[in-house]
Amino acid sequence: MKQHMKVLLVGSGGREHAMAWKLAQSPNLEKLYVAPGNAGIAQVATCVDIAADNVDALLAFATRERIDLTVVGPEVPLMKGIADRFQAAGLAIFGPSARAARIEGSKAFSKEIMTRYGVPTAGAWAFTDPDQAKARLARLSPPYVIKADGLAAGKGVVIAETLDEANQAIDDMMVERVFGDAGGKVVIEEFLDGEEASFLVFTDGETIVPMVSAQDHKRVFDGDRGPNTGGMGAYSPAPVMTPELEKRALEQAMRPVVDGMRADGMPFQGILYAGLMIKDGAFKVLEFNARFGDPETQPILMRLDSDLLAIFDAAAHGRLTPDLVRWSDAAAVCVVLASAGYPETASKGCVITGLDKAAAYEGVTVFHAGTARDGKNIVTAGGRVLGVTARAADIQGAIDRAYNAVGQIHCEGMHYRRDIGAKAARHGH
Ligand code: AMP
Ligand code: GLY
Repeated sequence: MKQHMKVLLVGSGGREHAMAWKLAQSPNLEKLYVAPGNAGIAQVATCVDIAADNVDALLAFATRERIDLTVVGPEVPLMKGIADRFQAAGLAIFGPSARAARIEGSKAFSKEIMTRYGVPTAGAWAFTDPDQAKARLARLSPPYVIKADGLAAGKGVVIAETLDEANQAIDDMMVERVFGDAGGKVVIEEFLDGEEASFLVFTDGETIVPMVSAQDHKRVFDGDRGPNTGGMGAYSPAPVMTPELEKRALEQAMRPVVDGMRADGMPFQGILYAGLMIKDGAFKVLEFNARFGDPETQPILMRLDSDLLAIFDAAAHGRLTPDLVRWSDAAAVCVVLASAGYPETASKGCVITGLDKAAAYEGVTVFHAGTARDGKNIVTAGGRVLGVTARAADIQGAIDRAYNAVGQIHCEGMHYRRDIGAKAARHGH
């Protein structure tokens, strides 16, 4: 690979801070720009004031600065065709084309792909007419699963306990358009019971290299209660994801999708993320994402022992090989600290203290998400604020380290779950 690389990373969340932190350790990095970044990212890279979805401005910047490789964190620029635009301009980019990213961008398309390539998944029906959707619901039994077809910032899935609630969700999405055009079409899905895990792979469109497993905590409160969020914490490895299941998920989900999409003229290059539901040793795919997960990336990258830039660069050039990806046997846990009111609202401008004390704990890195600098202070600037992430020999050690560090951080109204990683213990780890 090229040495002295100039890299542009797109995004501003905890995921991107973890990516920037890891990229900054690469011996082949000369300069790292992040657009737009956040207050934590500014400590390891140069932040550029361009929004993550402003593809025109990103392309102009990358051209002007002669960026060697651009890496895309979030899904929105991918769906907007950032990879297509950069490639057309002769610029190397890590991330799928707009067509391929529809595996995340349209739930109906994703289902079609899974059915076509024989990937185990829940039965589903797509509707553009609210009355037909309701008629289908009336023939099912609770709980009901209703999904807005398009992107809704992780909030487009409703699990309804009653038919009234389910019909209301249809009206909200299709008539009131609470998610805008994303709700023009809805998918009604068979409810799946079990334990979830996140399984991600790097791929250059042909070669697939798996990452270590992780588990997200989507609900806002302890014990998986309360509304869904973008993710309140994550840990890796997820013991529910046994080596046997990992092998099957590679063979029955990742391989058929990567091969199928290539054969169908929409090769997928980037990170393919499968959200799995696991029950009695078998899995079904709940969803595919076209990017790293947030907050799964934080613990996953803490366990990566090789050069992330070399992996991205190889994948972007169709030269990915398994030897580039080496994992540590350690465990890692990320506890998300959210601002008052999250997920409904997000308070801004609250001063955060204790960050240095927290980061001084052995094995701990504090990744920033919604933070900003205000003079000498770091203040809240979004819903998910920080991801306190710790690495240790085993999950319990990582949990203890992460929560000790969390105890040092103060900010009015900030809240977090106290049970991140607890599910791992139930598997006897
Ligand atoms: P998705 O964005 O499709 O992953 O859905 C968000 C969350 O809703 C998932 O992480 C699950 O917790 C839940 N969910 C989605 N689909 C189903 C389903 N078919 N059965 C049960 N829970 C589901
Ligand atoms: N943590 C879930 C996601 O990134 O989609």
